[in-house]
Amino acid sequence: MPGREHWGSRLGFIAAAIGSAVGLGNVWRFPYEAASHGGSAFLLADFVAVLLIGLPAMLAEFTMGRRTHRNVVDAFGAGGRAWKAAGALAAVTSFWVVAYYSVVGGWVMRYLFESPTGAYFARPAAHFEAAAAGADALFYGALFLLVTVGIVAFGIERGIELATKIMVPAIVLLMVALALYAGTLPGAAAGYRYFLEPDFQYLFSNLDTLIPAAVGEVLFTLSLGSGIMITYASYVEDSESLVTDGIAIVVVNTLVGYLAGLIVFPLLFAQGVRPGEAGAGAIFVSIANAFRTLPAGEALGVVFYLVVLIAAVSSSISLLEIPTAYFVDNYPVRRPVVAGVLGVAAFLLGVPTALNTATLELFDSVASEVLLPSGIFLVTVFVGWNYGREAMAELGEGLHERFLPRYWLWHVRIVVLLAVGMTLIISVSSFIDANVVQSLW
Ligand code: PHE
Repeated sequence: MPGREHWGSRLGFIAAAIGSAVGLGNVWRFPYEAASHGGSAFLLADFVAVLLIGLPAMLAEFTMGRRTHRNVVDAFGAGGRAWKAAGALAAVTSFWVVAYYSVVGGWVMRYLFESPTGAYFARPAAHFEAAAAGADALFYGALFLLVTVGIVAFGIERGIELATKIMVPAIVLLMVALALYAGTLPGAAAGYRYFLEPDFQYLFSNLDTLIPAAVGEVLFTLSLGSGIMITYASYVEDSESLVTDGIAIVVVNTLVGYLAGLIVFPLLFAQGVRPGEAGAGAIFVSIANAFRTLPAGEALGVVFYLVVLIAAVSSSISLLEIPTAYFVDNYPVRRPVVAGVLGVAAFLLGVPTALNTATLELFDSVASEVLLPSGIFLVTVFVGWNYGREAMAELGEGLHERFLPRYWLWHVRIVVLLAVGMTLIISVSSFIDANVVQSLW
């Protein structure tokens, strides 16, 4: 593709991919999922799922992107016209997620602005309820989208790469500072124990719920199944080893998830909140409540919500980039215009989620239980059984090791396919159970 955009450097690609991976999934979803699945037992299952499923699946997306140098729709198109539908599904998924992700991003923005005065200190639960849905939620959601559109409009090298090269180190530094601070709290020891002490008893008696939860979390947090890693890899020009980049991204993302746990659990235990009870509103209610009781809680709130906000923005730009790349690749349209129009459309799609938290949860279930698992399942089938030779050759680029690509392909064909297929079946049936069967009653 003559004139197609590309990353300015290899580090730029890595920063952008880490920026996408590190997001609400790490700071909010990971500790929350860990809390509802036995803390440290989940940690262990997650670690295994990252190695066995996450990394190989990410490499599968990378090979598709870098081999074709195309957006997700046309990358799938390399396997024939019918496959384009799979790519279109991924592009729609990204668009769908950014519509409600930006509403949650808007909440974070609002909490950041309110932290200096401690506006949410008096009645954290009621405050969250009021902030979560309604005109305010719409307003802050729009503001969040505006920032997202602004960065995507500047393009790959001057927009996404530049932004994430600043954002990713900022996230890590601020989180290390927060974790060190959290370590001084009275609840720290209990929090660490809950998070880190392996509970093999729990692990082995709950494998049936633990495995799908861990695989689902890994796919979500690594931004897989929505075309992001395919599109980002399509802007990589050099032919150095994708394996090294993949390992770097996965390691940093996992460490950031653990760091979030080291922040969130001591904060919760310091207040005597049982992590499982905190629920989805944890970072806006229980944590917000912790800041109220702590010295310099206002400043803490600023730092905490700033980290969450940066993490959320660096993910939402990756979501908006996927449909943007499709239009920029295929039509004579200017990137800022495409990004702007898609931003407005995402805002409109997200309106119901900003007006009703239950709708937002429904959007999230559709994405995490149906769309994302379907997307990664299609990637696995495509790379494993259709694009296999090409993918294997691409993975071999810059690699001296001959055996690894062949092993990887068989691993994708069997292990990843089975794990992802099972996750898909379990999540879709739990989705139907919760949303269709319940509503029939
Ligand atoms: N990985 C991002 C996070 O952890 C979110 C995300 C999920 C982005 C799925 C794209 C697709 O928050």
